[in-house]
Amino acid sequence: MTDTKKTVHGAWSSRFAFILAATGSAVGLGNIWKFPYITGENGGGAFVIVYLLCVLLIGIPIMIAETMLGRRSQKNPIEAMEVLTDEAGADHNWHYLGWMGVIAGLLILSYYSVIAGWASAYILKAFTGSFLDADALTIKKIFDDFVASPIQLIFWHSLFMLATMLIVVRGVNNGLEKAAQYLMPSLFVLIFALVGYAMTTDSYFQGLHFLFMPDFSKLTSNSVLTAMGHAFFTLSLGMGAIMVYGSYLSKNISIAKTAFLIAGADTIVALLAGIAIFPIVFANNLHPNSGPGLIFETLPIAFGSMTGGWLMGILFFVMLAVAALTSAISLIEPAVAWLVENKDFTREKACVWSGLVTWALGLGTVFSFNIWSNVKFFDRSIFQLLDYLTANLMLPIGGFCIAVFSGWIMKKHHSEQELNMPNETSYQIWKLLISYVAPGSVFLVFLHVIGVL
Ligand code: PFF
Repeated sequence: MTDTKKTVHGAWSSRFAFILAATGSAVGLGNIWKFPYITGENGGGAFVIVYLLCVLLIGIPIMIAETMLGRRSQKNPIEAMEVLTDEAGADHNWHYLGWMGVIAGLLILSYYSVIAGWASAYILKAFTGSFLDADALTIKKIFDDFVASPIQLIFWHSLFMLATMLIVVRGVNNGLEKAAQYLMPSLFVLIFALVGYAMTTDSYFQGLHFLFMPDFSKLTSNSVLTAMGHAFFTLSLGMGAIMVYGSYLSKNISIAKTAFLIAGADTIVALLAGIAIFPIVFANNLHPNSGPGLIFETLPIAFGSMTGGWLMGILFFVMLAVAALTSAISLIEPAVAWLVENKDFTREKACVWSGLVTWALGLGTVFSFNIWSNVKFFDRSIFQLLDYLTANLMLPIGGFCIAVFSGWIMKKHHSEQELNMPNETSYQIWKLLISYVAPGSVFLVFLHVIGVL
């Protein structure tokens, strides 16, 4: 296997390949596992509206900016920020932004891999017929028994990390493009089928009502922060994943159009997941706020009782694990690219080291569901703390800095040239959003959370 810099700094074979891989990064556990349970915990409709607004006004402009920074520099996030600050004649401290991204990626992957391990374990459970004709209580017991076992969680977490490393070691073209090509479209089809099932329950409209009817009295400042953080998380923004993917993108492709497509697909998957899940929650008298176990406690009920549910269950968890895999790859890629390009590691060595560190960190999350469930920092378990620190703090802070850099530091003629928008108005709208609206909103939400506003 080769380990030259060229293998790392490959290029996508087409615009479609980039769209698939970036969508593969965006669509993952965030959409199908996290979006429903945080929506459930934060009261439904009003939370969803804030999330959608954040995607539109903060997420999409920052996705355009991040892709632009990657493509302009053609470098991994740490070096990208060095090159771009040189070009703009700016302060070198900006390269810490690249650092924060690399660290955030590994921290996220540490717990992401544990949850993806759950999805993988559920493939086997579906296959062996554990859900057939099982009622809500039995399904809950299956989940509770499973997460109570550190050995099982470690096994599946290790397997998932191994799969991630095996793909990443093969570089951009072979691993990433191929994986995304078939699996993303299949995932769409399966989610539609689940929505079809949800329609047959008598709680379909109750589910829709919960998801789309806003009750703003349920919205706390922390819910707003969670919704904003989730916009970053679900679009893979604020840590350099999209920047690294942008650096493999060829110069003649319209970044803005591509960003709309990716964000659109990502949002549709999340909403469809919500539409599929909440009717099942209400039809079985479950609680929408039951936390990270939500989809594992609800969807198997559907698989256990519907015709063809055995096969659907297997396929669904396969797709979920694969969707997680295409995201995991992008979480580790910034670290690997940097180790290879900057520290002269071979690609194999870089994968092994970043993989091992992430795996070890993941043990904290594994234990937070069982033997360390009572260990709390600031009232949060290790898993909750990692999630809060990364999704609610590091990604928005990273995104804020990316917005400020793109809107204020980078020379206007450079961003204009790189984005090459179809007309001046589109560029002006983006410039307004990236300079004022996106960083301003992040700042206001933070002020609100710390109680200054
Ligand atoms: N966007 C992924 C998801 O929704 O599951 C998670 C993720 C991937 C977050 C890559 C951040 C990232 F850089």
